[in-house]
Amino acid sequence: MSAGGPAVRRLADWDREQLLSLADEFGSPLYVTDLQRVAENCQRLRDAFPEAHISYAVKAHTGQAVLETVREAGLDAECASAGELVRAFDAGFEGNRVRYTAVNPPSADLDIVVSYWEDHPNLTITVGAEDTIDRLRERGFDGRLCLRANPGVGAGHHEKVRTGAHAKFGIPIDRVPDIAERVRDEVDLVGVHAHAGSGISGDDLSAHRELVRRMGDLARSIPGLEFVDVGGGFGVPYHEDEPPLDLGAVADATREALGETEADLAIEPGRYVVADAGVLLSEVNTVKDVPETTVVGTDAGMTTLLRPAMYDAYHAVSNLSRPDAGVVSTIIAGPVCETSDVLADDRPLARPERGDLLAFGNAGAYGYEMASTYNSRPRPAEVVLDDDGPRVARRAETIEDITTLERTASEHIPN
Ligand code: LLP
Repeated sequence: MSAGGPAVRRLADWDREQLLSLADEFGSPLYVTDLQRVAENCQRLRDAFPEAHISYAVKAHTGQAVLETVREAGLDAECASAGELVRAFDAGFEGNRVRYTAVNPPSADLDIVVSYWEDHPNLTITVGAEDTIDRLRERGFDGRLCLRANPGVGAGHHEKVRTGAHAKFGIPIDRVPDIAERVRDEVDLVGVHAHAGSGISGDDLSAHRELVRRMGDLARSIPGLEFVDVGGGFGVPYHEDEPPLDLGAVADATREALGETEADLAIEPGRYVVADAGVLLSEVNTVKDVPETTVVGTDAGMTTLLRPAMYDAYHAVSNLSRPDAGVVSTIIAGPVCETSDVLADDRPLARPERGDLLAFGNAGAYGYEMASTYNSRPRPAEVVLDDDGPRVARRAETIEDITTLERTASEHIPN
């Protein structure tokens, strides 16, 4: 097998015995992330896009061990907040491998990012509004700047993740050349950027192509650019029978649509790097037969894995404890007091019993990252697997962790 590994890793490809023993040792719910798979996914991207600058969109999974793996695998880091930028530097990325993409940035973010820039003058800041440039200039910034265009074309697995045509993101593409002209003497204008959306499948390729075509035209209209970044968004198969994205075909379509440019191609995938490198393990705490289905209550819910509640996202599920049991139709629901706290609906599953362990696939991207403490429910631990075996990368949160902010606050209330 090449260093890039297979094109897809399905839930069934995980070692069932190993997952069972991890939950035994580290408890449930538990996020498990395989760093070897993260490295393989990086390598497949590098093989498909050998000429491109590839940045990992850190937001998909910000864990330090993942970031270190991505750095060693040769990808740069694209950060959406000051917090992500701090994490990228903590994970050892050099300044010239870090990009900060400002989306309506709070002043505190700009303060932090500019202070990092003072120590790392090679980092790049991408702005999606003209006044963000003014706010950066007020802080003394005259470094590497990239202009984010709103290309007017979006794509993605759900309306809520299509960014390309949403007014919130980027500068209308036809205004970008004028702004480039205006800022040229003030900063080091190095690139242009656009992002269509997240979870682009083979069916969305025409939208991707159109975005890249518009960005190629834009890049040709602005002389002296170092790169033209056409975003991330490469999808992964969530359904068991869905074919993987043909990355080679996406790369060919991208090159063809971009055409000849002086600027180098840049991409910034997040999901593709980490999705199938992670699973979420969760214990069954209730099994209840009701007339229309079997309700399976789990200790993970929408606070652990938000995607089903937020986007009706599908995650493959299997019953690790009882793989050969008869299959029944189930609704798998979490412990949160919300109707939308459902991880899988109308799902055939080997009939579980209380105490069984379920696994949810493709939990590596936007899984832990979107977890919350709603209902005062602590976030679970994350274990990473590497050559040395499993280790705890993030310990489980405790109720005390959650309440400590209030207790600390009350200590500071003057009498
Ligand atoms: N670049 C920019 C500017 C982005 O906004 C994003 C994602 C990416 C790159 C990476 O996109 P990816 O390759 O991961 O699709 N929470 C949602 C996904 C939101 C993505 C937001 N931006 C989900 O769980 O599906």
